[in-house]
Amino acid sequence: MSATARAAQASGAPAAGASPASAVAPDARAARLVLGIETSCDDCSVAVLEGGERLRAHLIAAQDIHRLYGGVVPELASRAHLELLPKMVREALAEAAAAPGDLTAIAVTRAPGLVGSLVVGVAFARAYGLALGIPVIGINHIEAHLHAAALEHGESPLPAVALVVSGGHTELVEVLDLGRYRWLGSTRDDAAGEAFDKVAKLLALSFPGGPAIERLAAAGNPAAFDFPRPMLNQPGCDFSFSGLKTAVALAAAAQGPPPWPGAWIADVAASFQAAVLDTLAAKTRRALEQTGARALTLGGGVACNLALCLRLAGECARLGVAFRVPSPRLCADNAAMIAHLGARLITRGIPSADLRVVASLEESGLPADND
Ligand code: KG4
Ligand code: ZN
Repeated sequence: MSATARAAQASGAPAAGASPASAVAPDARAARLVLGIETSCDDCSVAVLEGGERLRAHLIAAQDIHRLYGGVVPELASRAHLELLPKMVREALAEAAAAPGDLTAIAVTRAPGLVGSLVVGVAFARAYGLALGIPVIGINHIEAHLHAAALEHGESPLPAVALVVSGGHTELVEVLDLGRYRWLGSTRDDAAGEAFDKVAKLLALSFPGGPAIERLAAAGNPAAFDFPRPMLNQPGCDFSFSGLKTAVALAAAAQGPPPWPGAWIADVAASFQAAVLDTLAAKTRRALEQTGARALTLGGGVACNLALCLRLAGECARLGVAFRVPSPRLCADNAAMIAHLGARLITRGIPSADLRVVASLEESGLPADND
């Protein structure tokens, strides 16, 4: 992207070649059969959603190529999306027993994420929408995570607190209504999932690291290492995970060069996971208490962690707050949540035809009531 285009994005002005924001009229008919497209990172996903709630098809292709590098390689991710997306749309339509002409709208992730990957999804959606003569709705990926639980559990009682924990984000948000959010806290450095991935790499485990660490942690002693619980003693709901990663690196250095005994690795995994869970649980409890929220909803890949879910379910039970966690397929990056939010936005007539691709959450234009 050119410097001019980046500056235009930062200022909120349309970048060259992008369509300016325009309103989509409230039209329940347009939400009848929505094609969802998600390509913000390394998962390519397509969904066909009927009437805002019935998933007729939902495909997710994880790109295994990144395992070779121990992390997502942006250039490889966008190339893989380019190859996968047209095939997956065809396959999803076949699975949904629908023809392209049956679609009434397309919802596509436009921000935040890897620019090259987002561009592939948005360019495809714009061309396909133009060819079919149907509206294309730009979706904010984080906003979709905030509402993902509603697809399976129905609308959450409001106000709710949403915890989004993924490889790129750790966000605590008060959800006041669809399109009305108040930011309560986020990470000052690494995201929770990023910490899982980096610690897994340190321990020579597979990528992504979260599932591997959770598996090993079940066999280890969570009290074996006294890893730090960063920012617990500071007010507010912000997080920091980079010091925790350094503490694990120091423990590894003290142990000497690998190979390390399996029991030692399991103890490190269990102690690291305990530190992350303590931090997430304490800040989430604080957010629930501060807001008087009626529900907690989870989203993001780290929400697949069963120990985290059990811990947060316990906190919610103590506070008398409803607990909503999507099934693992809807926690991680997926197109079902994109189609779902698209259908809800169309039905409510909230303008969202902005298709500008934006990498960062801060510049993505997500409505927030913080001022
Ligand atoms: O939401 P997601 O699929 O993609 C984005 O990062 O946007 O989240 C992926 C992250 C990775 O960092 C992965 O290690 C983490 O979610 N993750 C987990 C678990 N499953 C996935 N972290 C902890 N425990 C898990 N079971
Ligand atoms: Zn995500």
